[in-house]
Amino acid sequence: MTKKITEIFDEREADRYVLHTKYLNEQMVRVLRTIGYDVGFRSGSGQYLYDRAGTKYLDLLSGFGVFAVGRNHPAIRDALKNVLDADLPNLVQMDVSVLAGVLAERLLRLVPQLDKVVFTNSGTESVEAAIKFARAATRRPGIVYCEHAFHGLSYGALSIMGDKIFRAGFEPMLPECVEVPFNDLEALERALAPRTAAAFVVEPIQGKGVNLPDPDYLRGAAEVCRRYGTLFVADEIQTGLGRTGRFLAIEHYGVEPDIVLIAKALSGGHVPVGALLMRKRIFESVFDRMDRAVVHGSTFGKNDLAMAAGIVTLELLTTGGMIANAERTSARLMTSLSAMVKRFEFLQEVRGKGLMIGLQFGPPKSLKLKLSWNMIEAANRGLFCQLITIPLFRDHKVLAQVAGHGSHTIKLLPALIISDEDCAWIERAFEEVLAGSQEVPGAAWSLVKTLAGHAMRASA
Ligand SMILES: Cc1ncc(COP(=O)(O)O)c(C=O)c1O
Repeated sequence: MTKKITEIFDEREADRYVLHTKYLNEQMVRVLRTIGYDVGFRSGSGQYLYDRAGTKYLDLLSGFGVFAVGRNHPAIRDALKNVLDADLPNLVQMDVSVLAGVLAERLLRLVPQLDKVVFTNSGTESVEAAIKFARAATRRPGIVYCEHAFHGLSYGALSIMGDKIFRAGFEPMLPECVEVPFNDLEALERALAPRTAAAFVVEPIQGKGVNLPDPDYLRGAAEVCRRYGTLFVADEIQTGLGRTGRFLAIEHYGVEPDIVLIAKALSGGHVPVGALLMRKRIFESVFDRMDRAVVHGSTFGKNDLAMAAGIVTLELLTTGGMIANAERTSARLMTSLSAMVKRFEFLQEVRGKGLMIGLQFGPPKSLKLKLSWNMIEAANRGLFCQLITIPLFRDHKVLAQVAGHGSHTIKLLPALIISDEDCAWIERAFEEVLAGSQEVPGAAWSLVKTLAGHAMRASA
């Protein structure tokens, strides 16, 4: 290797958008340029990102939730270097991995009602595996899922996707997948009553929209599942690992799922990894004989770098006070942001748990503002939220995005280590941007009118 990776990065940094336009996803480059996010990030540390001019940003996306412990955490980096320097016997395949055994043991200590672990390389792969294990354990074909659910983009996961835009053009999906409204126990009971559903797969808090379960919904759902012999699968890929102020979000609701899915933050933000935690009888329905010992798995599952990242991430989460910090900073933000609902017409609700917070926007009461809302929403449903996220980014250096296509919810998903200073940064930024949104005509509205023009042209 003649050049270090950092030299290549420095030399080609300025070409990133050209490279992506030519060789990768040009549409993504167009999106970034249109909304002014093409600032060229150069580094990340903790809850912050830095662009090529050295400007600091507060990252409230955290890579869609992978950086729970913060970007480039030194303990994770040390562990990864340690693995690389140790010449460990990685991926022997005809052996079993020490580090996978240790990580499985530590995960199950945190979720003691479950007995076995299957490691994967991503969230969607955990979902695929859950569908297979549930079918094998119940000998049933069906999967029940919720409206607005997001479980990943491979075929099984896509088949239980609650947002149709992701499915368009990719049909047909897996058969016997049935959608039910979230928070509707009667609909769930109707779907499970024929006893053909292997699993009910549900996010304890839905990522698309930050939709919270009613206090008794998940417990009720678990009971209905038990009544009809359907496995209860909690997709904690986004909500797990401290995100909601508990190790798993289900802990808030007192339920014990048959299978728990995790991924994202387990990686420490460095090495893709996912896992299914499940009851022994489900596991053993798949791995039931010696000749079926490799009937499910993947080449890179259980690789040493992923396992090491997982071990250190768990250590940081359970001993570093990060989960308690998530709960504490959440309480502050929920209070301060909720107080803005009274003062800013477009902001209708602030909801969430821990550091998974949704700001819900909607049509205002006053006529003048309502006309403006109708105008941009007619151009493109959900466009209003860009009137908030673009100035947050451009004027306040806060990176946040909407919680789904056509959504009127902006989601905050920061690292669990944010400080009071960061909370003040968020509060100041929203205060000013929300005030700006009420100025019609005003700078924010002219910007979004331009975007509406782009949207109209694109759909023409
Ligand atoms: C709840 C949930 N499940 C599954 C997935 C898919 O995970 P991945 O992107 O790692 O495949 C996601 C990703 O956002 C998610 O939020």
